[in-house]
Amino acid sequence: MNDPWLPQQAVVVDKVMETPDVATLSLQLVEPEAQQRFHFDCGQFNMLYLYGLGEVPISIMDYQHGCLQHTIRAVGRISRTLVALETGAPLGLRGPYGNSWPIEDARGRDLVFITAGLGCAPVIAAIRRIIAARTDYQRLVIMQGVKHREDLLWQEQYERWREVPDCQVLLAASEERQEQFPWSLGMVTTLIDKAQFDVNNCTVMMCGPEPMIRASMRGLEAVGVSLQNCFVSLERNMQCALGLCGHCQMGTPFICREGPIFRVADIKEWFLLEGY
Ligand SMILES: Cc1cc2nc3c(=O)[nH]c(=O)nc-3n(C[C@H](O)[C@H](O)[C@H](O)COP(=O)(O)OP(=O)(O)OC[C@H]3O[C@@H](n4cnc5c(N)ncnc54)[C@H](O)[C@@H]3O)c2cc1C
Ligand code: FES
Repeated sequence: MNDPWLPQQAVVVDKVMETPDVATLSLQLVEPEAQQRFHFDCGQFNMLYLYGLGEVPISIMDYQHGCLQHTIRAVGRISRTLVALETGAPLGLRGPYGNSWPIEDARGRDLVFITAGLGCAPVIAAIRRIIAARTDYQRLVIMQGVKHREDLLWQEQYERWREVPDCQVLLAASEERQEQFPWSLGMVTTLIDKAQFDVNNCTVMMCGPEPMIRASMRGLEAVGVSLQNCFVSLERNMQCALGLCGHCQMGTPFICREGPIFRVADIKEWFLLEGY
């Protein structure tokens, strides 16, 4: 059993700059045993550790052939340094931590994803697994919002998903002109009215800035979706990721221990208090 406090050694084996401040790092665990042992569920995260600087939680996008993929936006001290790493750079990695998207329980239902900005990263693995088992689910709706066209990561992937049977892909840009953005203009929440899904037999999964999640909750309730069937991945500052330090507490739950994915109806009370 791996010590949950002890970072495992990893190395950057590939790096793609998605935008000037967002990079996808491919990380290889150095120990072959660690590579074999590693398994993740969609929605879980790793703590990435820069020696002498500190750790940050980052969602796991993929794990194949001993290689982990993480997409990171440079917002502060540690994430900026992670995005600046080059191939061959060493780092530490603890994880995976957290719970997962309820994709097993959602078999036979319509699936709706609502994400904005880099909120798309924590759902990518779930969407890929659902598409690999496409006949186990009903309709699939993927909504993604960005500010500007250049913020839209993985445009080719969204185009491929449009070709998947019974899959509706809706994209919106809130600060773009129509000639620059061939899809919809406005916030991602304006797409809810265009989405085709059964409000009585759907599971909704959301990730993004909290004002967008609150607006999505209102939009979903307005079209008749019960918040019992909606799930959200939440972000808070994390230090231990093991339910001990209390940094990630929101109301009663600790995001690292009970989350990061919550049934919206269960956390609505805390979540609707802005700035909580
Ligand atoms: C479960 C979980 C999964 C996550 N997955 C990802 C992921 O896949 N990719 C990714 O890039 N980030 C992800 N994050 C967010 C990431 O952990 C933070 O951006 C990071 O901890 C910031 O640390 P820092 O030292 O770089 O910045 P800090 O020095 O801690 O903060 C610098 C500034 O950035 C602001 N800031 C902090 N976090 C964010 C944020 N999330 N968004 C915008 N501004 C922020 C702070 O308020 C501060 O003003 C995730 C967070 C959680 C809890
Ligand atoms: S990060 Fe320490 S309790 Fe959650």
